[in-house]
Amino acid sequence: MSILQTLALLLCLAVSFQPGDARCPLAILGRRSLKQADLPPQPPLQFGFYDISCPSLNAIIDERMRFWVLQDIRTPAKILRLFFHDCFAAGCEASILLNSTSTVLAEKDAPISQTLDKYDVIENIKWTVETACPGIVSCADILALAAAKSVELAGGPILQTETGRRDGVVSYLAGATASMPLSIQKIDDLLAMFVQAGLDLTDLVILSGAHTIGEVHCTNFADRFDPAANSPFPDPSFGEQLRAYCTRGGTGDMATLNLRTFIDLQSPNSFDISYFVNLIVGRGVMTSDQALFNDQRTQPLVRAFAGNRTLFFESFQASMLKMGRLHVLTGTSGVIRRQCGVYP
Ligand SMILES: *[C@@H]1O[C@H](CO)[C@@H](O)[C@H](O)[C@H]1NC(C)=O
Ligand SMILES: *[C@@H]1O[C@H](CO)[C@@H](O)[C@H](O)[C@H]1NC(C)=O
Repeated sequence: MSILQTLALLLCLAVSFQPGDARCPLAILGRRSLKQADLPPQPPLQFGFYDISCPSLNAIIDERMRFWVLQDIRTPAKILRLFFHDCFAAGCEASILLNSTSTVLAEKDAPISQTLDKYDVIENIKWTVETACPGIVSCADILALAAAKSVELAGGPILQTETGRRDGVVSYLAGATASMPLSIQKIDDLLAMFVQAGLDLTDLVILSGAHTIGEVHCTNFADRFDPAANSPFPDPSFGEQLRAYCTRGGTGDMATLNLRTFIDLQSPNSFDISYFVNLIVGRGVMTSDQALFNDQRTQPLVRAFAGNRTLFFESFQASMLKMGRLHVLTGTSGVIRRQCGVYP
């Protein structure tokens, strides 16, 4: 951190800066360089951690994921989302997979987790892996590998994934609520959530690219239909089309209809650059999508990814590795759960 940044940080702290306060952008940056998340875990993750202890692991992930995608083409999007939620809330240690107990409400039961899905797919893969290599492979690594396979099976890059994570032993509802970026947020607030997690502005744009296979409930962008909205649709006909869909042609109340739409309407099941192309023509679905193009800090990246698939794929690989290291447990920390949903 430069002396100027240090001074700015101290000043912001002195005026009782809160995490995410847009008035203190330097403090946000400063906070990041002070964070533990930037230090590699000891021992670090590595490629091929299970090559000797569970040689069939990659084949099992591949076979099981292909099987589950055949059952439901939305599986990749949902598994990838599960991985994001796990890493953002308290780190990639499979706490999102834990069921609540009679005394502790888990991340899974937070309101923001209600639309998460496919816990059964991870539990099924875990069961298969346990049959081949009992007590060896963590749920956190299974989720990371399944997320990478999801990207590949949706037509995205073949991602290299580090392994060696161990599973956490706690999961708190409040952890999930406090950590997830929201659909109604613009860059300053989104960035604050990413920085809090240990990521940066570039990661924000790159990882939002996962919305190329995403889906969203109408209630997450309903605020944009108001003519006086904080983030109206730049292309009014697109907004009108979404409003008509979300209200069944104006005859329904979208909160009770509970409808969902794809985020990349051009190619919803294909991991490609059309999410970024859509933002350029004003067809971002959520405020948090369109903000990536509307903000001068992130617009150049959106344009770059929209024009270069290789660049997006390489960048996505880099950000996934970075996200996959957030607050991981390695070595003798944590445990290897037998069932991903059950407290060890
Ligand atoms: C696209 O990005 C790749 C990877 O960064 C780069 O090597 C290539 O030159 C870029 N292509 C164009 C046309 O800019
Ligand atoms: C977790 O809870 C769900 C119901 O909420 C249940 O279907 C599932 O079997 C539980 N998982 C485990 C591993 O007990």
